[in-house]
Parts: sequence; structure tokens; C-alpha cells
Amino acid sequence: MAKNLIIYYSRKGQNYVNGSIRNLSKGNTEICAEFIQKAVGGDLFEIETVRTYDADYMKCIEEAKAELRAKARPELKKYLDSIDGYDNIFVCGPCWWGTFPMGVFTQLEKLDFSGKKVMALMTHEGSGLGSCERDLKKICTGAVFGKGLAVHGADAAKSEAAVAKWAEASVRC
Ligand SMILES: Cc1cc2nc3c(=O)[nH]c(=O)nc-3n(C[C@H](O)[C@H](O)[C@H](O)COP(=O)(O)O)c2cc1C
Repeated sequence: MAKNLIIYYSRKGQNYVNGSIRNLSKGNTEICAEFIQKAVGGDLFEIETVRTYDADYMKCIEEAKAELRAKARPELKKYLDSIDGYDNIFVCGPCWWGTFPMGVFTQLEKLDFSGKKVMALMTHEGSGLGSCERDLKKICTGAVFGKGLAVHGADAAKSEAAVAKWAEASVRC
């Protein structure tokens, strides 16, 4: 039976939701990552940076912008050394200035994606998938790519059916 891995980054706390700043007790992407696991099974791996971003949303977006511009690869608290043994890799994260937070790339660049199937899930407040699929294709060399899914972050808790349908189709073909 095919084995699934769900790699995700998610930031709880202050975030921008439908035009105003709200406090999220659980990150939007984490909610979706768990829906994937519930639908198709597999292991969850959370990406956590050593240096946490500012709790203040406005400061966090400035930090994220500086990291994007510098093509930073922030250090992580723990790393996956290998994805041998997995067939399907779901890469999930919030849209930060059009792509995944830089810590996602810190992890992905350390892995060998030859022969894997990779799917992106991005939660966002209007940018959809942004450039994340294009960016994944540059990094996950040797992989084949399934269709990505964009989830409006504010609707993450209501997205279980859509996420499950997409995840099931992703591992089927
Ligand atoms: C640093 C930062 C940058 C963001 N940039 C964008 C963006 O460019 N486009 C967008 O649609 N949403 C943007 N957002 C909103 C998040 O993508 C959205 O709220 C997401 O669902 C948060 O997921 P999380 O709770 O899993 O971290 C940004 C949020 C943060 C904190």
C-alpha cells in the first residue's frame, strides 16, 4: 500500500482573516494537514523554525518579506533526514508573500524526491497557490507533481470535504 507523508508549516496566533487581524488558536494549514491525514492516512511532519516569528502580525509580515528577499533558509528545530519509504508527499503551508515560508524550503532542499509524487496545499487570504507549485518544481527534482489545492485560510475549518476529495484523488492516480 502506498505511504503518505504530510509535511506542513503553520503559524498560530495573530493572522489576517477576511480583512481583519484575528488570533488563531490553531493554524489554518495545520487544520488542513490533519484533514489530509484523516482522509488518506500517513505521517505528519511539522516544520518549526528555531527562531520564531514575531507574534505581532504586522512585524511577522516584515520578517517574512526580508527572508523572502534574502532567499533565507532559516534553521529548523528538527529535520526529516529521508523520505525513503514514502510514495506521496503532501507539502502544505500558508501563502507568505506568494509562496511557502522559507523554512519549508530549508527542509525540502535536504531531501531526495526521485520517484516521489508531490502535491502542494496552500492556505491563503487571496493569493491562491501563488508561485508555490513553480517553486516546488525547482526544488523537488525527480518528482512527479499532482494538482495543487488552494484553501482560503478563513474557511480552513470548513474545508474538510474539499481537502479529503482532493487528497483521495491525489493518491489514487
Ligand atoms: C507573513 C505572512 C505573509 C502573508 N502573505 C500572504 C500573501 O502574500 N497572500 C495571501 O493571500 N495571504 C497571505 N498571508 C495570509 C496567510 O497566507 C493565511 O492567513 C494562511 O491561511 C495562514 O495559515 P497558517 O495559519 O497555517 O499559518 C500572509 C500571512 C502572513 C503571516
